[in-house]
Amino acid sequence: MLNDHLRINEKGNLEIGGCDTTELVKEFGTPLYVMDEMNIRHNCRRYKQAMDIFYDGNGLVLYAGKAFLTMAMCKIIEQEGLGLDVVSGGEIYTAIKTGFPMERVYFHGNNKTPEEISMGIEHGIGRFVVDNQTELEAIERIAAEQSKRVKVSFRIKPGVDAHTHEFIQTGQIDSKFGVALENGEAEEIIALAARMKHIDVVGVHCHIGSQIFALEPFERTAEVMLSFIADIRDQYGIHITELNLGGGFGIQYTEKDEPLEYDQFIEAVSKVVKRVCHEKGLGRMYMLMEPGRSIAAPAGITLYRVGNVKDIKDVRKYISIDGGMCDNPRYALYQAEYTALLANRAAAAKTEIVTIAGKCCESGDLIAKDIAIPPAKPGDIMAVLATGAYNYSMAMNYNRNGKPPVVLVKDGKSRLIVKREDYSDLLRNDILPVDL
Ligand code: LLP
Repeated sequence: MLNDHLRINEKGNLEIGGCDTTELVKEFGTPLYVMDEMNIRHNCRRYKQAMDIFYDGNGLVLYAGKAFLTMAMCKIIEQEGLGLDVVSGGEIYTAIKTGFPMERVYFHGNNKTPEEISMGIEHGIGRFVVDNQTELEAIERIAAEQSKRVKVSFRIKPGVDAHTHEFIQTGQIDSKFGVALENGEAEEIIALAARMKHIDVVGVHCHIGSQIFALEPFERTAEVMLSFIADIRDQYGIHITELNLGGGFGIQYTEKDEPLEYDQFIEAVSKVVKRVCHEKGLGRMYMLMEPGRSIAAPAGITLYRVGNVKDIKDVRKYISIDGGMCDNPRYALYQAEYTALLANRAAAAKTEIVTIAGKCCESGDLIAKDIAIPPAKPGDIMAVLATGAYNYSMAMNYNRNGKPPVVLVKDGKSRLIVKREDYSDLLRNDILPVDL
């Protein structure tokens, strides 16, 4: 699990981006999210280069901001030449405030509010990925009010089984996202949109799920989507020129996970897209992919301070840390597995099986169950690996815990990109009525 950006230094401490984690903890405290800038950039480049090599650059890699989005992250994504997948007014606002080129922003989501739609149109967002008919009608109405034309893509459920956790699987008919192929919803909405005055129909989109390790579901999805594009052309004379195949590429959380190289996804789907486009006379199809986790997760670690150790004889040993589900709710939600080590004794043998518990009032507040780590004692620093995605972005204030800060590291230097929430931040929006 230790890769290029993580190493153990001569003091036996874990190092990330050339920074000793024990020094980071001295400076910034715990819990602490640490993101390795070069790893993020490297991951972006892998995807972008693959798009250039295997698909002649006729496409765009969008970073799915839901994985981890801050202004600094937006800047890095912009500098690496990627686009951005957003799903809320808050994510759009982050992009606007960072000066991200709005034509490279794609707006997803199954319930965009009129305010968000209006904000997107006003700021010239690149694409609306339309989820349903009500939304389409709202976009048409608001675009008319603003005298603008809007380019849209449609979220389609291709009906492909992605072999992943039920909660993060999204391509099947019984899903809250998008319109289905098999009951005709998809073609109906596209035919309707093509008749609207302020809408330009340009693309179709799908996302079959997350943390997927196989190529085959993506290849099959590409075939299904292209057949649909050809059907729409033949039946309605509507020419769709953009195919967005979503994200979902799996990463390594533990030794059990065997992820593919990132290039392989783009290489595999590129072949299918080129072949099917040729067979069906679809011309050059602009292709988009939307990785989130695989760009951000491997770059991040979380550092905690070990607190109480509770060894329940013949039952279980709990190691409590000063964070938990508030900064990483993924075990509580998906029984997600992680790798952990002691940052201040990083080379020590993992001789104990323990359960890492958070500090929230919730029995399910665990970070990992029955994992191997070296014997830990209060005061040690615990590092949980591959937490760069869906940790900070899913953090919460349960039990009035403040969210940890985020530090960006590179070449032995650290820069704070998100401040720690202190007690006053927790009261920021509280109002104590004077007459109470
Ligand atoms: N595109 C769309 C439309 C999506 O819905 C998602 C993720 C992505 C791209 C990026 O997928 P990725 O490459 O990151 O797998 N909170 C869950 C993951 C939810 C994913 C939601 N959509 C987790 O912590 O595992």
